[in-house]
Amino acid sequence: MLKNKTLKLATLAAVIGGSLAMSSMVSAATEIKAAFNQSNKHPQYLALQDFGKKLTEETEGRYKVSIFPNELLGDQRAALELVQTGSIQMAVVANPLVENYDKTFRVIGMPYIYSGPEHQEKVFTSGILDNLFSSTQRFGFEILTAYTAGARSMYTKSGPVKNIADMKGEKIRVMQSDTMIKMLSCMGGTGVPMGQGEVYSAVQQGVLDGAENNEITYSDLKQYEVAPFFSSTRHLMVPDLVVISTDFLDTMSKEDQATLRKLIKASTVEEFNIWNQQISAAKANAKSHGATFTDVDIKPFQESCKKLQDELVETPAQKDLYNKVVSMQ
Ligand code: GCU
Repeated sequence: MLKNKTLKLATLAAVIGGSLAMSSMVSAATEIKAAFNQSNKHPQYLALQDFGKKLTEETEGRYKVSIFPNELLGDQRAALELVQTGSIQMAVVANPLVENYDKTFRVIGMPYIYSGPEHQEKVFTSGILDNLFSSTQRFGFEILTAYTAGARSMYTKSGPVKNIADMKGEKIRVMQSDTMIKMLSCMGGTGVPMGQGEVYSAVQQGVLDGAENNEITYSDLKQYEVAPFFSSTRHLMVPDLVVISTDFLDTMSKEDQATLRKLIKASTVEEFNIWNQQISAAKANAKSHGATFTDVDIKPFQESCKKLQDELVETPAQKDLYNKVVSMQ
């Protein structure tokens, strides 16, 4: 653990130090450093990598994207702060992290708001989120596009969650936001917020009874080894957001900026495709390592979240966004 942390800190220092050194030199390609918290096989990594290649081609080598996977630059909260201060240029962070800056974002990550992947893809590619995504410029970053992270379900250490009563007293890791903690309470459990990198050992050591995530992350991070009971509650389809430093964007010419925006938006469609292709392999991999997948009647889970949904949609901006999203079903 300690060795791992030291390695991450050393990487971080080298990466940020490298940015400073680079900026004082004249160099052919400007490097865009992007923080990512999962592996280099993950659909989002692959979509970003492809975006990077196309950006280099279409800007005739003026830009080059380097992705740092596996939380090498810190967890998502830390990575977002690095983007905000301009120490790195890009990151992929889950919606709840941005929701901590602006509560309007809650709406697009609410429990059971999407009817399925097609609905979510329509919302992400329809342009209805454009204003919301550029409104974060005031915090020093902008959201370029959203990626899917599938549907999240519960997975636990000592037995499946067959119905909502099984949630009682369960300590489940959630992402770092109040909404996620509240959602777990509505279901009868306790939400414990932490970064993704700590989940495996926290379950292993018994600090947690389980976690909740999609099949790909479950498999990619080998969490089936510590929590083998995956129960398909499908309670959330939380968007992942591709964020970029506003200061960095301002250094780009209008044309290069337009190219970057066009390519990153296109990468969303590609990411959905890779996601859909990887799902069954992820499940098969987890099963081959002893995981069991249990189907769940989701109605009681939906019911338990109803009160929270009403509570989360408060402001006129949230109501407006909620109506737009729901009307695209
Ligand atoms: C998913 C999501 C990530 C997020 C992670 C988490 O894997 O794609 O962006 O970090 O869940 O639960 O922290």
